[in-house]
Amino acid sequence: MTAISRAVDLDFARRLPKIELHAHLTGSISRQCLHDIWEQKRARDPSLHLEDPLIAIPPEKVDYDIQTFFPLFSSYIYKLCNDLASIEFSTKSVLRDFQSDGVVYLELRTTPRAVAESNLSKEGYVKTILRLLSEHNATKNSMQAFLIISLDRRNTPAEAQEVVDLAIKYQSDGVVGVDLCGDPARGDVGNFTNAFSRAKAAGLKITLHFAETKTSATDQELHTLLSWQPDRLGHVIHVKEKFQDIIKSQHVGLELCLSCNVHAKMITGSYPDHHFGMWRHSNVPVILCTDDVGVFCSPLSQEYFLAATHFELTRDDLTRLCERAVDSIFTGSDQRTRLRNIYSEWRE
Ligand code: IMP
Ligand code: ZN
Repeated sequence: MTAISRAVDLDFARRLPKIELHAHLTGSISRQCLHDIWEQKRARDPSLHLEDPLIAIPPEKVDYDIQTFFPLFSSYIYKLCNDLASIEFSTKSVLRDFQSDGVVYLELRTTPRAVAESNLSKEGYVKTILRLLSEHNATKNSMQAFLIISLDRRNTPAEAQEVVDLAIKYQSDGVVGVDLCGDPARGDVGNFTNAFSRAKAAGLKITLHFAETKTSATDQELHTLLSWQPDRLGHVIHVKEKFQDIIKSQHVGLELCLSCNVHAKMITGSYPDHHFGMWRHSNVPVILCTDDVGVFCSPLSQEYFLAATHFELTRDDLTRLCERAVDSIFTGSDQRTRLRNIYSEWRE
């Protein structure tokens, strides 16, 4: 039996050089890292009234739904990571975690966040993250990381333009694209058409959270989102055949998140029922992603292992899945060449 035809185990999934294209920075902070931040803050301020993250964010496999998931950020994690020191500490920790899980290429996304009490502006936040990514990339690391800037569905049209302004301003410093994220029950996407067309015109790539819930999967919303000519789509759950056909004809890359969709009850059933099973046989690139590994506690290696287990994928299938993701990255030919070399060495 050759190495590539042996059954997939977790060790193989960890060693496999992986590409992560859908990971929210704040959602990727491990519980342990949040706990470390909490301890440091409590040592400085014993009256800190935030609960220990190890208790506030229940351990692995505890399920969320749309009502409990989004407030976790606004009512808890953002309150804990509310200064430059904690933002830097947690970002470095996220980069280390992805790299040690065998990720060789990362497009991390984050929503520009002003922290008034720490005198941090949205621009200051973006500059901080970009500096950390660039320091990471300049050091001899096996993983290279880039930034996608997220526009929250709750943004006003003016706030959306501000996000795009930042993405355009820092395009040559590591911003590769713009994302639409946030609670799918909120906001009218029609408000953002202008912002996304400006981003596209400036040469930024576009990825969108797409049809995550039934309420965010109306014909009107999906028509609007597809009219922005996205380069990739995330989740893609409640999608009628007519929209599936458009996605196929436009060759849009799909960022699919197994554990997140199962644990947040975004799909009916469990892993074997995930639409990954359907899309992986289509002509579009399908990329396995974590979404919020800090919350769902399933690193990318485990997502590959789960895919292999539930969809009977071989080592060769997983390798091909990763290689296919190269077509969907938002950076240019240097990174594509680097990644193709990594996969040809891996196959030797
Ligand atoms: P941040 O953008 O780095 O602060 O990461 C956390 C944010 O990502 C959350 O406040 C949400 O707006 C967004 N987010 C995380 N997971 C999801 C998801 O599954 N759907 C939509 N938005 C999400
Ligand atoms: Zn997401």
